[in-house]
Amino acid sequence: MQRTLAIIKPDAIRNNYQGKIIDHLLDKGLRIVAAELTWLTTEDAREFYAVHKERPFYDDLVEFMTSGPCMPMVLEHENAVSYFREVIGTTNPEEADEGTVRKLYAESLQNNAIHGSDSPENAQKEIAFFFSARDIIS
Ligand code: RTP
Ligand code: MG
Repeated sequence: MQRTLAIIKPDAIRNNYQGKIIDHLLDKGLRIVAAELTWLTTEDAREFYAVHKERPFYDDLVEFMTSGPCMPMVLEHENAVSYFREVIGTTNPEEADEGTVRKLYAESLQNNAIHGSDSPENAQKEIAFFFSARDIIS
């Protein structure tokens, strides 16, 4: 079993999609082993997405991720990182496959409803960013 970090992003919370999204993840066989509702500070969002700090969309992304509450979660599944990226669909929801979370619930390329770690190494770092070992169900 592998773990990945998901975040239900502020657009999805504003649209009251969090219940539908959680249902969707459970239907896909993902096990939620940690979850919280939080509101990122600018410092948090800048650090979390530091890998994109040279990208033109970085400031807008930080502003978006701090625009309201979000829900970080740790998900467990076989090959959770790559499997979850399939479940959520491509970054741009217009290009996402039918039935993916982003196709169903995203507003736009930026406001794309959900985050998923992009590698097992980053999943470990991102899980540790939000959760300590005692927060995670074994
Ligand atoms: P994420 O990290 O949130 O799971 O998304 P991702 O891997 O599919 O995409 P990534 O390239 O890591 O981009 C991170 C987030 O930045 C926003 N974005 N905006 N305006 C733009 O061109 C643009 N490109 C990306 C999205 O919110 C994207 O998920
Ligand atoms: Mg990414």
